[in-house]
Amino acid sequence: MFEAGLLKGQSILITGGGTGLGRSMALRCAELGAKVFLAARREEPLRATAEEIRKKGGAAAWGACDVRDFAAVEKVIEQAEKEVGPVTALVNNAAGNFVCPTERLSPNAFASVVGIVLNGSFHATLALGRRWIQAKRPGTVLNILTTYVWTGSGFVVPSACAKAGVLALTRSLAVEWARYKIRLNAIAPGAFPTEGAWGRVIPSAEYEEHHRRRHPMQRFGRHEELANLAVFLLSPQAGYINGDCVTIDGGQWLRQGGQFNDLLEVPDALWDEMEKARKKAK
Ligand code: COA
Repeated sequence: MFEAGLLKGQSILITGGGTGLGRSMALRCAELGAKVFLAARREEPLRATAEEIRKKGGAAAWGACDVRDFAAVEKVIEQAEKEVGPVTALVNNAAGNFVCPTERLSPNAFASVVGIVLNGSFHATLALGRRWIQAKRPGTVLNILTTYVWTGSGFVVPSACAKAGVLALTRSLAVEWARYKIRLNAIAPGAFPTEGAWGRVIPSAEYEEHHRRRHPMQRFGRHEELANLAVFLLSPQAGYINGDCVTIDGGQWLRQGGQFNDLLEVPDALWDEMEKARKKAK
């Protein structure tokens, strides 16, 4: 289904596209024929990723911008349209996060994460949405969320609030802008190792191992798994999917929710003993 040329004719703007999952999505989209434009704060990773894509025969350009600044977002979109043509899709992937007990946060810490995640996603969506509506061009938005949009999560409260807001944005505009042929969807990834997120939210190797062992599949996500899902949702094959959020976490968030799921830790020998005891009691 991921045939060569699947995304041909698309110009995709990816925020946070120089590093981590943004970079992986950019590489995959370019491999499947899209022109990609990468926007983020730090120039060096943007330049490196764009070069990597070009070396592989893809089309990529980049522009530095802080998504918290609406004027900067407008400017980078103008630049994108000059370099990769009219943007057909947006991936709101830029994020900010760190773990911290909430009572230790300053209002500015909260504002900083919410500014990047919620305001930033709104800025890029608004700027491109207006262009699409005015030019009567269809468009697609893909928002990268997290599984704790379903549950909330302690220790990442600014991120949980901001991502939940982006889910509301996705569902609200999916309805409001469908008449303009603008589709909005989201992905809720579980744990996918990246340099940026891992350093900020996984405080130690022991915590990482604890996390991995508690995972129902005993492993974290692979970047290509998320990139392929993003491609599908951006492609015309997903043309009737609108306003949805697809979880990709190997079942991890459900593992944490089910009351008896900790029984995964019960060894087979104990189940054997319980079975024997049950049969004896009959
Ligand atoms: N714990 C508690 N507070 C923190 C913090 C931490 N680990 N890191 C930053 N803050 C606070 C700062 O103290 C500051 O508040 P103050 O002005 O009241 O002291 C506020 O957050 C802003 O920090 P600053 O470093 O000035 O912000 P920034 O805008 O340059 O950076 C962040 C934004 C904080 C989100 C930063 O982590 C970042 O740039 N992240 C981008 C990449 C990323 O997070 N990737 C992971 C995605 S999952």
